[in-house]
Amino acid sequence: MSLLIKNGIVVTAEGEGKADILVDGESIVAVGADLKADGAEVIDAEGKYVLPGGVDQHVHFSFTYKGSKTRGFETSNAAAVGGTTTLIEFVNQEKGKGLVETIEDYRKTDADNIAMVDYTFHSVMTDPRPEVIDEIPKLADAGYPTMKLFMAYKGQFFHADDDAILQALQKGKESGVTIMVHAENADMIDVATKQLVAEGKVGPYYHAVSRPPVVEAEATRRAIYLAEMADAPLYIVHVTCKEALEEVKAAYNRGQKIFGETCAHYLVLDESDLARPNYEGAKYVCSPALRTEEHREALWEAVDRKWLNAISSDHCGFDFAEQKHMGYGEGKSFADIPNGAPSLQNRLNILWTYGVEKGKISRSRLVDLYATSPAKVNGLEKKGQLKAGFDADIVIFDPNYKGIISAKTNLEGVDYSPFEGFEQIGRPESVFLRGKKIVDNGNYIGSKGDGQLIHAKPFGSSYQW
Ligand code: URP
Ligand code: ZN
Ligand code: ZN
Repeated sequence: MSLLIKNGIVVTAEGEGKADILVDGESIVAVGADLKADGAEVIDAEGKYVLPGGVDQHVHFSFTYKGSKTRGFETSNAAAVGGTTTLIEFVNQEKGKGLVETIEDYRKTDADNIAMVDYTFHSVMTDPRPEVIDEIPKLADAGYPTMKLFMAYKGQFFHADDDAILQALQKGKESGVTIMVHAENADMIDVATKQLVAEGKVGPYYHAVSRPPVVEAEATRRAIYLAEMADAPLYIVHVTCKEALEEVKAAYNRGQKIFGETCAHYLVLDESDLARPNYEGAKYVCSPALRTEEHREALWEAVDRKWLNAISSDHCGFDFAEQKHMGYGEGKSFADIPNGAPSLQNRLNILWTYGVEKGKISRSRLVDLYATSPAKVNGLEKKGQLKAGFDADIVIFDPNYKGIISAKTNLEGVDYSPFEGFEQIGRPESVFLRGKKIVDNGNYIGSKGDGQLIHAKPFGSSYQW
């Protein structure tokens, strides 16, 4: 079955222009002027932008914090409605299990036949025994050539020390596994948290006080030095502040292969949200913490000028009710609130409305940040581009739509949205997943299990210099 999308403005990471797109089965077969195809279903995209389906490289459907668990792949239709057609989920290695084994077990029970967009996984090493370090190249063989370590979260089973990070960097580079870090100094946070709690400063706002920018900057610099010693590339997830950006830039200018992303919420929210009344500040507890206006501006500049190469969601679907239950009351504090923001559905909407419409980034830059670069970094060879030979993951974007973001109307299955009440300009009107229409007129029309597992290739773009 073929499909011809005519008359739209096709936006790629390189530029934009009026063009038609011809799809045959699951793939794009041509992009150009005045394409014709007998018998093809024709879609008129006049007045619309045509974008590649988004690639969200930072999602938590399986994150557990102090016993609270996020929503899972059963809510991945929220990604589709938001124009994201590929997700990469972080899977924490289970104690006593191998890296690949943990992913395979989780995939079979929690993702296969459930996912509504395409998906793959990053490993998260939590148990760095010698045999686990030796297993790292097997991630590349299995099609999961990316692995994260958490420098933060002291006392949690997934916290990693420098020893583990250095060994992971050394082993990873042999087989093209890209090592990622959550860069925050766990001890600095731990000391500050204990002091704040002892002083009775337990509300959500103190989450930000316990982990100021210096905490992120220190860990970012340390991780960069570990990567230098290993002579390996490094990917820093959710960069949030000027000081960490300076570390990334300095390393880059020294010739090190250091790359990083930020997330939509760090571009539009700030630490004052943590002080909202009625304990609503808990909705904004994510790590690293939300910053201030000057950091937000530095992040917009960094994504525009390619100091950072991706904008992810860091989606984490904990209910506000659960966050309140965990953090509020006798003997409890901000440190007990499950960390993370539900932001799967609105990544593109936020970037369009507050990035493109406000003149902070061009449409082409948006496409690079939300689809093309994350596909390249993660070795997803057929994703993130509107070119012949790529998967027909396509968004027809209506720039004239106007709406208001609300948890009441989104599909994340969480009882709040951090972007509640935000104005939205434009929306994905139709979304195609490998040629199949899964969103029509803004509504999800696909089925559970439409998503396919993708095996990624090692030596992603962080290795290419
Ligand atoms: O607060 C966050 N970011 N929660 C998810 C886990 C992580 O640190 O990425
Ligand atoms: Zn993190
Ligand atoms: Zn995360």
